[in-house]
Amino acid sequence: MDSSPLRIRVPGLVLPVTCGDQRQACAGSIHVGLGIDFALGLAPLGGWLLSFPHPFVVELLSILDAAHSIVGQAVRSDDLVIDATVGNGHDTLFLLREIGAKGRVVGFDVQQEALDATRDRVQRQASAAMDRLRLVHDGHEAMSSHLDDETLGAVMFNLGYLPGDDHSIITEPETTCTALNASANLLRSGGVITIVAYSGHAGGEEELQAVEAWVASLPQDEFRALSYRFINQTNDPPRLFAVEKHAE
Ligand SMILES: C[S@@+](CC[C@H](N)C(=O)[O-])C[C@H]1O[C@@H](n2cnc3c(N)ncnc32)[C@H](O)[C@@H]1O
Repeated sequence: MDSSPLRIRVPGLVLPVTCGDQRQACAGSIHVGLGIDFALGLAPLGGWLLSFPHPFVVELLSILDAAHSIVGQAVRSDDLVIDATVGNGHDTLFLLREIGAKGRVVGFDVQQEALDATRDRVQRQASAAMDRLRLVHDGHEAMSSHLDDETLGAVMFNLGYLPGDDHSIITEPETTCTALNASANLLRSGGVITIVAYSGHAGGEEELQAVEAWVASLPQDEFRALSYRFINQTNDPPRLFAVEKHAE
C-alpha cells in the first residue's frame, strides 16, 4: 500500500494514522496505556477489504510519559490532585491541563525558587488555570496539614534534585515515605500515585530502595502497584512506580 504515515498524539491517545493512497483507506490505533494499542480502521463503503499496514502499534512510553499516561487515565474533571515535588513545574502544568475547570492542583516544594519557576511556567503557558493552582512552600511530608479532609485523585512525585540547581537539596527516603503514606491514606478509590525515582545521585539508590519497599508492602486487597523500568539502558535510568487504589 502506497501510504504516508502520520502520527497524531494527544495525552492518553496515540494515533499513528496511515492515509492517502488512491483507495483512501485509513488505519490507526488507540493507545490504552503502557504500550497496549487497539487497532482500528476505516475504508470507504464499497471499497476493498480493510487492511492494516501496521495493525498493532506498540510504543514503549518513556518513564515520564508513562507517569503522565497513568495519571491522565485516572483523574476526573473535579479532582483535587497533588504535585508533591513541583521543581520546574512540568508536572504541575500537566496536572492543570489534565483536570477540568472544577479541578484543583496543590503543589509542594521546599525551594522557593522551584515554586517561582512553576508559577512563571503556569502564568506563561496556562494563565487561565492559575486560580486552580495553590503552591505551598513546605515539604510534601506535611501535606496532610495543608489539606482539608478531601480525597485525592492523583499524587505525582518526581524525586531527586531540582535540575540545574543545587544538587544537595534532594528528596529523602524518610520524608518521601511519610508523604507516600499520607498520599495513600488520602487517595480516593480509583486514584493513583506515581513516583519517578532516580539512583544516579548520592542518596538516590537508598531512596529508590525505600520507595520500592514501600510500594511492594502495600496490601493487595486495597492497592494495585507496579514498577516500570528500562532494563538495558546505561547511566542509571529512572524507575517509575505507580499505585492505584482499588475502585469500590
Ligand atoms: C526532580 S525535581 C521535580 C521536577 C518537577 N516535577 C518538574 O516537573 O519539573 C525534585 C524537586 O523536589 C523538591 N524537594 C526536595 N525535597 C522535598 C520535600 N521534602 N518536599 C517537597 N519537595 C521537595 C526539590 O526542591 C526539587 O525541586
